[in-house]
Amino acid sequence: MRILHVDSSPRGDRSISRRLTQAFIDVWKHANPDITISYRDLGHQSVPFVDEAWIAAAFTSPEKILPEQEATLALSNTLIDELLATDVWLFGIPMYNYSVPANFKAYIDHIVRVRRTFSVNEAGEYEGLVHHKKVVVITARGGIFSEGTPDADADFQAPFLKKVFSLIGATDLAFIHAENLAGGPEARQQSLDVAHRQIQELIAQYEVTKS
Ligand SMILES: Cc1cc2nc3c(=O)[nH]c(=O)nc-3n(C[C@H](O)[C@H](O)[C@H](O)COP(=O)(O)O)c2cc1C
Repeated sequence: MRILHVDSSPRGDRSISRRLTQAFIDVWKHANPDITISYRDLGHQSVPFVDEAWIAAAFTSPEKILPEQEATLALSNTLIDELLATDVWLFGIPMYNYSVPANFKAYIDHIVRVRRTFSVNEAGEYEGLVHHKKVVVITARGGIFSEGTPDADADFQAPFLKKVFSLIGATDLAFIHAENLAGGPEARQQSLDVAHRQIQELIAQYEVTKS
């Protein structure tokens, strides 16, 4: 089993999303140590925003693309190859201003790419080119945005992620939200306990066992 582990908090040891993605890896390894992990740290090494040259290159057909345009897409190709080479994608994502941090949005702009991760058919419909991936998103949030709570409609993070991953065909998506982290020590601990339990349950659900 190959796992791509991506963190996006700019914080280090204080980051809750980092602690939880690491807990996910530890629990998985305990259930089955036979895994290969690729790691990317967007929080400490951001990818650049896409620019005009990138957009022109990405939308140039393969028969017309120039060598310098290929070079412009090199990082995007690396990021996409990394995704395609793995079975499970694990993302640690803080909530920033109701959505994802800018570094994660910049990453998304590189990996959602025509002819690489999605195509457009003759009817003009999008078709995902990614298949059979499990996506696990662990978020860390100061407030509470779960369904049925007063601020639920302010969650632009989970719906955004659901939409972009489904666009590229990655529809097997599980969220674990560590919420209310700014709600005081007790609330925070309770939320972390729930998140740790959900990690255990998710890995049990994936039927991860020693081979
Ligand atoms: C720039 C910034 C924006 C934030 N915006 C929100 C927000 O919109 N909603 C929320 O619940 N928490 C917000 N927070 C709190 C973070 O989501 C929270 O501190 C979380 O633990 C950060 O993830 P990390 O611990 O992995 O770094 C924000 C924090 C920062 C630094």
